[in-house]
Order: sequence, then C-alpha cells, then structure tokens
Amino acid sequence: MIRIIKVKDYEEASDKAFEVMKEFIAPGKVLGLATGSTPLGLYARMVKDHKENGTSYKDIRSFNLDEYVGLEITHPESYYAFMHRNLFDQIDIPEENTHVPSGLGDDLEGQAKKYDEMIDASPVDIQLLGIGSDGHIAFNEPGTPFDSGTHVTDLAESTIRDNCRFFDNDMSKVPTQAVTQGIGTIMKAKNILLIATGANKAQAVKDMISGPIDVSCPASILQKHDNVTVIVDEAAASLL
Ligand code: F6R
Repeated sequence: MIRIIKVKDYEEASDKAFEVMKEFIAPGKVLGLATGSTPLGLYARMVKDHKENGTSYKDIRSFNLDEYVGLEITHPESYYAFMHRNLFDQIDIPEENTHVPSGLGDDLEGQAKKYDEMIDASPVDIQLLGIGSDGHIAFNEPGTPFDSGTHVTDLAESTIRDNCRFFDNDMSKVPTQAVTQGIGTIMKAKNILLIATGANKAQAVKDMISGPIDVSCPASILQKHDNVTVIVDEAAASLL
C-alpha cells in the first residue's frame, strides 16, 4: 500500500521525511540509504539532530542502494564519497556499520551477490528512495526485471543526462554503468520512504502511483509493497 503525503516544496518534503525517518534512528535498526539531490535535505536534518540532540547512530547499520562502476572511492562524485561528505562523517555511525556497494574490482557480479547476502542477514527496516525522471529506483532502469537482485547495469541515456550536472555538465564524464540493488532487493525492505520533488518527476510519480504495474516504470512495483510512504511536493504531484 502506498501512503501519499503531499507537501508544498522541497524543504517541507525534507521535514516530513525526517519525521518518518526519526522513528527508525534507534539502536539495532538498519537503514537503507540513497544518494542524489533528493535526500540532501533529510541528511542535513539528521546531522543537525545528531549535533543538537545527541541522537546516536553507534548501533545503527546502513546499506546504500548503488555506486558508479569505475569511480575510485576518493572521487568526489562516487557515492561512497557522497555519503561520507553528507552524512557518515558528520554523525557517529561506525565506518564498519556502513555499506556502499563497490563499483571497483574484477568480480562485480560476485561482489553484488555478497551484498545481497549481507542484506539478507541484516534486513533493512526502512529504505529511502528517490525516483528518476524515467521512473527508475536505485539504478533499476525501465525494463529491469522486478525480481532482480543486486547487479551491474548500464545507465539509461536520460539518467546520464540528468546526472551530468555533477560531472561538469559533460555527459562523457558520467560513468555509463553502476552496481545497484535490484528491485527484488529493495522490495525486501520492511518499510519504504520515497521522496519526489520538482516538475521533472511529475510523470514518473503519476506512473508509479496510478499507472499499471509494469517494468516500463520500475517504481510502479511499489504498489505491491505493504508499507510505502511517498512524500511529494506540489510540482511532483501536479499530474496526480
Ligand atoms: C541514488 C539513486 C537514484 C536517485 C534518482 C533521483 O542512490 O538510487 O535512483 O534516487 O536518480 O536522483 P535525484 O535525487 O538526484 O533527483
């Protein structure tokens, strides 16, 4: 079931997301985390709350959704670097409790399988998601089977275009592949929190919520999950 929360704008979306997330910031919990522009406001609120109220992440574990293939973890646009800069280095979560899939090495598929095994051993309590303008969740692009596990994937051209803002607006600098949790992996999370803001997400939001459940809109599978909260701002909700 999808519970929809409509808010005015990005700031309100981040406030609401923090309210939902706060319940899960407790010892023993496992957080599924995302990168991109969408979660930045939420992460800023988590950092503020940690600094002002001492909320601790010492006994929390985290699993990220995805990572570009071929970027060193020291590259500022690697998702590993993103997570450290925007969250992990500013809270007290132990490094060994955090997991970001590796996009480096000779056996990416083998590593992906191990990533799924780790998640199976530590089921995710709440998975945070953004949504691509093409309806992707993590880097599961249209056409990805709904039962997929963590795997290596080619990025859609629209995703490369959307993400080139992080790579000097140069599409040739954007990695063309990523390691991503599969849709099957994401669907195992006990709760899902998806945030969508901005007019360029409106069509994807409409397809996710009221379209047929079809691989042409990967996020439409969320209609089959028991516990999904979708926070949308006015612009992203404009076609609902
Ligand atoms: C990021 C991820 C992606 C993004 C999506 C939206 O870890 O998995 O699916 O959530 O591409 O990106 P933004 O938030 O930059 O609009």
